[in-house]
Amino acid sequence: MRLTLQTSPLAKVAADWLAVGIWENEPLAGAALELDAKLGGLLSRLREAGDVAGKVRELTPLYQISGIAAKRLILIGLGLRGKVDFASLVGFAAAAAKMLSAKPVQRVALALPDVGPAIDADTALRACAAGFYQGASSAGLRKSTIERTPPEELCIVASASLQESLRRAWIEGRATDLARELVNLPPCDLYPETFAERARVVALKTGLELQILDEQQLLAERMNALLAVARGSERPPRLLVLRHRGGGDKPTLALVGKGVTFDSGGLSLKTTDQMVDMKCDMAGAAAVLAAMQAIAELQLPVNVLGVMALVENMPSGKAMKLGDVLKARNGKTIEVLNTDAEGRLILADALAYAVDQKASHLVDLATLTGACMVALGYDVAGLMSNDDAWSQKVLSAAQAAGEKAWPLPMFPHYREMIKSDVADMKNTGGSRYAGAISAAKFLEEFVGETPWVHLDIAGPSWAEKENATREAGGTGCFVRTLVELVRIFYG
Ligand code: BES
Ligand code: MN
Ligand code: ZN
Repeated sequence: MRLTLQTSPLAKVAADWLAVGIWENEPLAGAALELDAKLGGLLSRLREAGDVAGKVRELTPLYQISGIAAKRLILIGLGLRGKVDFASLVGFAAAAAKMLSAKPVQRVALALPDVGPAIDADTALRACAAGFYQGASSAGLRKSTIERTPPEELCIVASASLQESLRRAWIEGRATDLARELVNLPPCDLYPETFAERARVVALKTGLELQILDEQQLLAERMNALLAVARGSERPPRLLVLRHRGGGDKPTLALVGKGVTFDSGGLSLKTTDQMVDMKCDMAGAAAVLAAMQAIAELQLPVNVLGVMALVENMPSGKAMKLGDVLKARNGKTIEVLNTDAEGRLILADALAYAVDQKASHLVDLATLTGACMVALGYDVAGLMSNDDAWSQKVLSAAQAAGEKAWPLPMFPHYREMIKSDVADMKNTGGSRYAGAISAAKFLEEFVGETPWVHLDIAGPSWAEKENATREAGGTGCFVRTLVELVRIFYG
């Protein structure tokens, strides 16, 4: 999908569809008012008849209209003006995109809503474009008959001064699509080696530096916790290291992603119901790769290191066992009491590696615990940190990107949950309670003094059911948050 900007009067915009927002509980305004005049008062009459209320995501397609250059018109409810924010604009555009991508068309034009002083035009444009990507992209990668096709071109009708915002929206939209695609690919096709090949393509196209560590190199780098998880699988592990050097001699931000391309649980085998969506367990690594692509394309003046730990977690005669004790890269020993708590094992080594690469700040993203979903539900990531100022910065980046993260406490006494009788720590919290936090306490052992934020994205990375604004499947969550975080990193 190409993304373009057009400034001409709405009535003159040639398109298969022209999409226009309608506010609830107020007279027609802006784009709708402008079109109403050209359409002989059609929109006013629809309002008066009560057919178009402007409620959130209300969709009214109008066919065979005359008086404007567009072939068809779709009215989209914006809801109440006082309640509009980044996320609601994402939903606004996504709902329209979902409907309009059900049949193939060439060109969709979207009139950028005039949202007033609360949100500037740059933010509004980026929210609408992000929503359109979200609604138009499909999880049906392997269907013989494609059921959803984005238009060839999305043309946003807005001021010519927004060209730079448009470019950013396009880069972030493609990056989010990449993350979703990687999550949606079946685990027979996407495993550590093929993920690494995708990263190689990204690196070649963007100029990112890429290092792919194979088993021998991982052994030499003392990544024994990661290797222990990988041992049960026929598929060899990989550690990917991407570097974007845009910040000269300034500090480096490291983004670290959990990339379990399939999580069967290992010998602590999951049930079918628990395992059925576990191709999504690499969503953290997908978000890191996608964000690195966007950061490079945007040429952001920041040093960023992307570390992706890729393994498959499988049971076999070679698999790690309960009671095994592993020595992680930083020398700490770990008693394995549940092979399904594998994410923290691979992240232990990946975080220690990022620290050794002299990262000044760390963020990790991981589909780490079901417990985080018990605490916060589907759409909200848990945020755990060893540094208040750094977690505030990550929270404000998430807010600016319209994504939801919420802090969970890291009181020192939670450390007791991972005390082991035989090693420096054990890999489970030992009870059903505070499971997201005991996992974070485990990770904290591997970041030293470096300011670190852990985002548990088990909930938001995967949509179990489709809704009005997207299909079921991978969501591409937190890619935009990471790009925003990089933008404000030195600020
Ligand atoms: N990948 C899972 C967590 C998960 C669950 C992600 C549901 C997305 C949806 C993780 O590796 C896992 O299995 N965690 C265990 C930890 C437990 C064994 C301490 C869990 O949450 O049950
Ligand atoms: Mn697991
Ligand atoms: Zn997992």
